[in-house]
Amino acid sequence: MATTTDEAYSSTMAVSKKVILITGVSKGLGRALALELATTYGHTVIGCSRDQTKLDSLHLQLSGVSPNANHLLLNVDVQRCNRSVEEFARIVKENELVPDIIVNNAGVVNKQGNMWEIDVQDFDNVIDTNIKGSANILRHFIPLMIPYNKGIIVNMSSDAGRDNTPYKMIAPYCASKWGIEGMSKSIAQELPKGMAIVALDPGVIHTDMLESCQGDLASQCQTPEHWYALFLTCFDNVSVSCFIFGIFFLFFSNSK
Ligand SMILES: NC(=O)c1ccc[n+]([C@@H]2O[C@H](COP(=O)([O-])OP(=O)(O)OC[C@H]3O[C@@H](n4cnc5c(N)ncnc54)[C@H](OP(=O)(O)O)[C@@H]3O)[C@@H](O)[C@H]2O)c1
Repeated sequence: MATTTDEAYSSTMAVSKKVILITGVSKGLGRALALELATTYGHTVIGCSRDQTKLDSLHLQLSGVSPNANHLLLNVDVQRCNRSVEEFARIVKENELVPDIIVNNAGVVNKQGNMWEIDVQDFDNVIDTNIKGSANILRHFIPLMIPYNKGIIVNMSSDAGRDNTPYKMIAPYCASKWGIEGMSKSIAQELPKGMAIVALDPGVIHTDMLESCQGDLASQCQTPEHWYALFLTCFDNVSVSCFIFGIFFLFFSNSK
């Protein structure tokens, strides 16, 4: 009898447990990923967000589905200051965890408006979270991974960071995601052999962020729970991940 894709992944993952750091796990894509990675594959999740109540409820769920994993969820604001992320990395190290994979997922979008009408603090918040927040994570976690010469970093990008033709009223968000694309390509040239980094456009998914941009139309899009299956093929199956990330890796290496 033919095995399903899920069965094939499960058998591979049975011998390959990973430690996966995901920022922004309180809701949306980050939460769906954290739950699925722990439930189906038994991976250990290191996560953060600024909402303690949601972190507590996620921790309860994660512990229920994979009680043997040492999940670590902390209240960390990735953009507020570099120091809080430094402390986050210190605690992770103290728990003897080293991420195999980082998903720099935490992100915000501005309140829609013409660029010249957008509140300066709203603009700053988007840049500080999406670009500087991601950089804070990488600044403190890449050094934990380098001694092992392995690790994959996924920086959440967006179509808004690749093709800005259809995107009006979210100039700060577009700028931040174009920034993520450039930063990822630059870091790709700096990482040691064995490590890879990619900017990933996840597609269009019904989350709070999408609702804030599209209102009721957002409900016509896929849910985070449907979306994760596609995302996981990017790195959960060893051969698939080698293939996909190999392509990105080659692309970035060749662009040196
Ligand atoms: N949904 C889409 O269609 C779509 C499309 C393209 C790209 N993306 C990207 O995918 C990522 C996830 O988006 P989403 O749709 O899942 O959004 P979401 O539902 O609004 O979730 C965003 C997550 O980021 C966290 N976060 C925001 N600011 C933070 C900060 N300063 N420190 C720590 N955590 C912070 C939030 O947690 P707290 O508020 O609890 O801190 C929340 O868990 C984003 O990078 C987004 O740009 C999404």
